[in-house]
Amino acid sequence: MIRHCLSLKDLTKQEIIELIEVAGNIKKRINEINYKPLDGVILGMIFEKSSTRTRLSFEAGMKKLGGDAIFLSSRDIQLGRGETIEDSAKVISRYVDIIMIRTFEHQRLIKFAEHSTVPVINALTDLLHPCQVLADLFTIKEKRGDIEHIKVAFVGDGNNMANSWIYAAALVGFELNIATPVDCAPNGRVVYDAFKINPYAKITLTDNPKEAVKDADVIYTDVWASMGEEAQKEKKHELLKSYQVNKELVSYAKDDYIFMHCLPAHREEEVEADIIDSKHSVVWDEAENRTYAQLAVIMKLIGRLNDGY
Ligand code: CP
Ligand code: NVA
Repeated sequence: MIRHCLSLKDLTKQEIIELIEVAGNIKKRINEINYKPLDGVILGMIFEKSSTRTRLSFEAGMKKLGGDAIFLSSRDIQLGRGETIEDSAKVISRYVDIIMIRTFEHQRLIKFAEHSTVPVINALTDLLHPCQVLADLFTIKEKRGDIEHIKVAFVGDGNNMANSWIYAAALVGFELNIATPVDCAPNGRVVYDAFKINPYAKITLTDNPKEAVKDADVIYTDVWASMGEEAQKEKKHELLKSYQVNKELVSYAKDDYIFMHCLPAHREEEVEADIIDSKHSVVWDEAENRTYAQLAVIMKLIGRLNDGY
């Protein structure tokens, strides 16, 4: 059976820990001349939405480890002109060894994976962004030495990032407080699933940002209007304006809290410039770590972790 990575819930806690360990190893070795564990491997990268980090981290990472990557914008391939997702999956998977896809409805990704003959990685859908949270967990491990006994506060829109954090908390067991306005709550099905995965999950949903941030080790936020939500931008900004991560809010966290953001950031909207540019912010390391976390996922899905890498 082909193994995909469409959601963090496709992984076990043990596998998440393993991927973080492998990511650390890749980070140490990526510039060694003879370290080419992805020799001959081609990644197809389908983008139906914009990207800076995801494209660069996958593409540069593949090349560094001896493989290659092909950028497929939906503006240029037949998928964007009405070729079905099923036919596209069947065809594209005949040319490459593994595929990542960034798209809109999560169902589109699932359908693609069902018809692909090679592993598929979710590089962001409207529902989930698992690669980002894997890189985030790796970053937290680097900064705090632990991913189990921490308190993460997610403040802002209950979007694809919030949903992915919910699965991560259910699987790994850390404490997660999510503060959103009631009308921007995370996906109900994800919350339901999370408690099915782990009935003892330490996940709290609130509309009170201060309550969420109290004694947090990590404060996380994301844009108020995600890609595809351009028409709702004004309404969401109105709903979310009291959820900004600012000097007052962070004063409720632990003194040595770290600030995280998947980026791109909108300074003075979801986060004050003074916070994202402060010594608490780890956003640049977080962005860099996308490369190592994703390469670890690729190695796992194509079965190269058993080769001693
Ligand atoms: N964080 C993230 O996925 O960034 P991009 O949209 O630039 O890929
Ligand atoms: N929630 C954001 C994440 C971008 C990486 C979006 O979907 O646009």
